[in-house]
Amino acid sequence: VTPEPLTASDFAAIIADLPGFWGERDVRHVHHPMFLHEFGDTALVVRDGDRVAAYLLGFVAPGGVGYVHAVGVHRSHRRRGLARALYAAFADLARARGATRMKAITTPANEGSIAFHRALGLQPALVRDYTGPGEDRVVLTGSLDSTGMRIHSGR
Ligand SMILES: CC(C)(COP(=O)(O)OP(=O)(O)OC[C@H]1O[C@@H](n2cnc3c(N)ncnc32)[C@H](O)[C@@H]1OP(=O)(O)O)[C@@H](O)C(=O)NCCC(=O)NCCS
Repeated sequence: VTPEPLTASDFAAIIADLPGFWGERDVRHVHHPMFLHEFGDTALVVRDGDRVAAYLLGFVAPGGVGYVHAVGVHRSHRRRGLARALYAAFADLARARGATRMKAITTPANEGSIAFHRALGLQPALVRDYTGPGEDRVVLTGSLDSTGMRIHSGR
């Protein structure tokens, strides 16, 4: 599995098939074009033939935080290590740009996402009203050191 840079045609293919990656949740707002046009050098995709199998949108925030805004794996390609590979590649890109920490956000109901981030070694913390009144989120954080993210090797 080799994550590659996200292209405009990858981004268009993702937008055209959001339910394939996210189910029935409306996540169009998550896919702001700045993640391609401004932060494209830290956006990654895994392709299967000419299809997008998985992708990651992220950037390095001031203060040295590698922020993963979204990671999506097509429902046809789950549990094959694609999201883990995307995080590992992003961690390398972020570290090369000065990041020392990793951060991601998810919703308290997204048990699969929380389990995935835990498996990678990120620590979850429930933060009340993170996204506004009554909008709690789980904030996931981890460290990056000279060897990259502490990504557990899995099996
Ligand atoms: C969460 C998500 C990105 C995981 O992608 P994935 O490619 O299936 O994950 P990986 O195969 O790399 O999983 C690595 C490890 O994480 C854990 N894990 C992943 N998905 C899990 C799940 N649904 N339940 C429990 N553990 C899970 C496992 O320990 C897994 O290792 P294993 O398969 O050897 O047991 C994917 O389910 C997804 O796209 N979900 C919808 C979008 C979303 O919610 N994104 C995250 C919020 S930004």
